[in-house]
Amino acid sequence: MRIGTLGNGLMTEALAGQWVRAGHDVMVGGRDAGRAGEVAKRIGAVAGSLAEAAAYGEVVLLGVPAEVAVDVARMVPAGRTVIDCTNALDHRDFTLAQPATAEAISRAVPEVRVVKAFNLAADSVWRNPPAGLGVPICGDDGVEVVAELVRDLGCVPVAAGGLVRAKLLEATAALAIGIWVSGGDVRGMFPPLADAFGTVLPGQS
Ligand SMILES: NC(=O)c1ccc[n+]([C@@H]2O[C@H](COP(=O)([O-])OP(=O)(O)OC[C@H]3O[C@@H](n4cnc5c(N)ncnc54)[C@H](OP(=O)(O)O)[C@@H]3O)[C@@H](O)[C@H]2O)c1
Repeated sequence: MRIGTLGNGLMTEALAGQWVRAGHDVMVGGRDAGRAGEVAKRIGAVAGSLAEAAAYGEVVLLGVPAEVAVDVARMVPAGRTVIDCTNALDHRDFTLAQPATAEAISRAVPEVRVVKAFNLAADSVWRNPPAGLGVPICGDDGVEVVAELVRDLGCVPVAAGGLVRAKLLEATAALAIGIWVSGGDVRGMFPPLADAFGTVLPGQS
């Protein structure tokens, strides 16, 4: 599929690089032609302006700081799927500097399909994700196409609910990053719940 990126930073290089390797056509969009061109060259994509990449992508990765995400997303034409990977992290105390970024994008640009994904792990993880890594996705429309892009990374899409739940993913990222930064380890935090709820979970029998 055709993927445009809004931004030419670390997340763009990591994720779009994987999608190029998976056979997708990617245009890296940046506000500086030189920087966008360098990233595009490194990953085997083409480069364009932000507006050109927004117009190019059937799916558009929003890889910019959360505080400008709403404004930058306004460039995306109607009917496209926007992957919001942003984290509005307040680095002073690892809380959220702004609530519910994905929902704010959707309210500002209701004619696009906003899907929250890829915000829980660092760009270094996306460059070489561990096989089978679960990637939660929140959205109302466009979720299946994003799930395909998750699978292209060798990861497993995890349906995490509608866009109304994206704010929980944003808060989860802030919580996890805060724990990592303070020297903790989040990896063992989510054991199976089968015993607690008496349900059989996927992958268990
Ligand atoms: N890096 C991670 O590990 C990670 C993990 C999860 C989520 N995220 C989230 O992913 C998003 C991107 O992160 P990143 O690490 O890729 O950031 P980054 O490396 O700092 O890149 C940010 C990109 O946004 C562009 N940009 C900044 N301000 C802009 C504006 N006003 N208008 C248009 N473009 C603008 C920059 O353009 P220039 O090159 O022209 O400056 C750059 O291309 C952030 O919201 C971050 O919270 C990051």
